[in-house]
Amino acid sequence: MAVGIFDSGLGGLTVLQSVEARLPDVPLVYMADSAHAPYGVRTADDIYELTCAAVQRLFDEGCRLVILACNTASAAALRRMQESWVPTDRRVLGVFVPLIEAMTERRWGDNSPPREVEVKHVALFATPATVSSRAFQRELAFRAIGVDVEAQACGGVVDAIEEGDMILAEALVRSHVDALKRKMPSPDAAILGCTHYPLMQKTFQDALGPDVRVFSQAGLVADSLADYLVRHPDMLGEGKRRFLTTGTPERVSDRATQFLRRQIRFEAA
Ligand code: DGL
Repeated sequence: MAVGIFDSGLGGLTVLQSVEARLPDVPLVYMADSAHAPYGVRTADDIYELTCAAVQRLFDEGCRLVILACNTASAAALRRMQESWVPTDRRVLGVFVPLIEAMTERRWGDNSPPREVEVKHVALFATPATVSSRAFQRELAFRAIGVDVEAQACGGVVDAIEEGDMILAEALVRSHVDALKRKMPSPDAAILGCTHYPLMQKTFQDALGPDVRVFSQAGLVADSLADYLVRHPDMLGEGKRRFLTTGTPERVSDRATQFLRRQIRFEAA
C-alpha cells in the first residue's frame, strides 16, 4: 500500500517533495481537496467533515497510513478523527508535532517533562483556523517552558498561492510579517505553520531578516515519517503513485508543475 499525503490544495506538495527525496522507494498518493480550499477560513466542523472525506478517498485507494500535510486539518480535525473516526487498522498523522519537537530540541516520542529551550520568542505564521485553534501553543506547552509565542493569522496567502498569483502572495507575506513585528519586534525563531508557506520561504526570511531562524515542516515531516516506517513497516507496501484532486485536474496540474518545476499530472478524485 502507498502512503497517502493530504492537503486542502497544493501546499502539501512541499511535504511530498521532501518525502520523495528522503524515501524514494515509498509510493505516495497525493490528495488535494482543491474544490474546497482554502480550509483556513472554515469552521472546525467543516474542516473535520472535509478532511474525513478526503482521507477516506485515500483509504479507498489502499493507503493504510495518511499524513495530513495540512496544519489547518492537523490543528482543527486530527484529534477528533483519531478519537472517533480512524479505523483501528489505519493511521492518520499530522504535521505539527515533528516541527515542535525540532524546535524544542527533542527526539521523536521524547515525552519527558517540559523544559527550557534555546528559543524564547517565536513568531507563528499560520492560517486563521490554525491560529484560533491554539493547537501549536498547546503542543508547545507539553514540551517547553518560558517560550513566548506571537501568532499571526495570514489571511489571503493560501488563496493567492492557489491562484498562482505570487506577486499578491509576496505582498501579503510582507504585510503579515510587518504586523507580527509590531507585536513582537525581535523574534528569534519563526514557524511557517502552513504547508503552503515554504513556497514563499525566501520572502518570509527576507522580511524577517537574517537573524531569525525560520522553521518549515517539509524536511522534518519526511524525517519523522522515515522514523515511523522503520518502527511500523506494516504500514508500507506496494501501490501506485497518483495525484488526485477534487478540483479541475488540468488547472491543478499546471500550478503543481509550476511549483515543483517538473511535470505533475493530477487526476479527478
Ligand atoms: N496547507 C494548509 C495548511 O497547512 C492550507 C490550509 C488552507 O487551505 O487554508 O494549513
